[in-house]
Amino acid sequence: MNILVTGGAGFIGSHVVRLFVEKYPNYLIFNLDALTYAGNLENLKDIEDKSNYTFLKGDITDEVFISSIFEAYKFDRVIHLAAESHVDRSIKDPLAFVKTNVIGSMILLNAFKNTWKDDFNNKLFYHISTDEVYGTLGEAGLFTEKTSYNPNSPYSASKASSDHFVRAYGETYNLPYLITNCSNNYGQNQFPEKLIPLFINNIINNKSLPVYGDGNYTRDWLYVIDHARAIDLIFHKGTIGETYNIGGFNEWKNIDLVKLLCKQMDYKLNRPEGTSQKLIAYVKDRPGHDLRYAIDASKINKELGWKPSVTFEEGLSLTIDWYLNNEDWLKNVTSGEYQKYYQKQYN
Ligand code: NAD
Ligand code: DAU
Repeated sequence: MNILVTGGAGFIGSHVVRLFVEKYPNYLIFNLDALTYAGNLENLKDIEDKSNYTFLKGDITDEVFISSIFEAYKFDRVIHLAAESHVDRSIKDPLAFVKTNVIGSMILLNAFKNTWKDDFNNKLFYHISTDEVYGTLGEAGLFTEKTSYNPNSPYSASKASSDHFVRAYGETYNLPYLITNCSNNYGQNQFPEKLIPLFINNIINNKSLPVYGDGNYTRDWLYVIDHARAIDLIFHKGTIGETYNIGGFNEWKNIDLVKLLCKQMDYKLNRPEGTSQKLIAYVKDRPGHDLRYAIDASKINKELGWKPSVTFEEGLSLTIDWYLNNEDWLKNVTSGEYQKYYQKQYN
């Protein structure tokens, strides 16, 4: 089976690529990535020489290139993760999100359809989406697979749009698809623009911790390796044409999470307890900031037996250890362009 993974040099993609390359030596895994600021081949150093792994550098918005690789490799299955993924960047430059997340997804769908339209047997287009497409929850309730889409940021609107196109291709052309909507991931190799790695990096460097608004926003956190395990399970056992929500059963208010992170960091850095917490600075809120996300993951749990394998405290501790042991990785990704981004975002 030839499997195309898009965005495999990014955070979640690199964990998916590693899991598939190591677990399934008979599958040929092709990792297609444009290597934007978020893509990093260092994430896959340990598996780059495996005989069932090939890296293809390219952009999903390049129609000619995408057609040519489908022609050359006849991908039986696609796991589509490539995306612009950061909400704050989508507020500054929404069009970039439409280009990659909507048009790029369409180009992949068309290439897949044109390659297999006469026989979709055992073929699959697996689209990785997010819980943000559902919009925001109030203090109570959970997102289920039946919750209506109500995206509030340019990022979530672009992801919702691509989800709709995937489903529409299923209805219109019988294209075999799966969609999963996952909650906030954390873990090793996440680019330090997202809350947890940004704050780890700032604590290491004694920089302030910019908490948006009053910090009472809630997210449901899932360890990235548990997300990769869920993707593996759904890829093999999911029912075609279905959506599955994936979540950690693990809600945290931002400010409580940040305090836990500070406590663990103080301990690991041998700093007196309370040192990191003094770095917390409440800053201007994110426009359109969704109050609360929380996933009802009972469908994947009941139908496929999946549940997270680590507690949040364990996962967070493993994550911090990885960043502390990989300071070169952190330094490499935070030099150059990152400094400009940081200045612009946090002034
Ligand atoms: P990421 O930003 O870390 O990685 C994205 C990858 O896509 C990078 O390697 C980048 O180089 C590549 N890419 C971007 N534009 C491209 C293009 N035009 N052509 C080819 N490659 C391109 O993102 P992530 O956090 O790993 O998220 C992966 C997917 O999972 C995304 O679709 C995202 O919407 C979804 N998701 C993320 C989370 C999360 O918490 N991070 C949660 C749920 C769903
Ligand atoms: O829910 C899934 C989504 O989770 C994914 O689809 C996105 O790709 C991913 O980026 C993530 O989106 P969030 O906006 O929830 O993640 P982020 O890490 O940017 O922010 C988490 C919370 O922390 C959010 O309420 C905003 C807040 N925050 C974030 C940053 C970067 C701060 O308070 N300060 C910050 O500097």
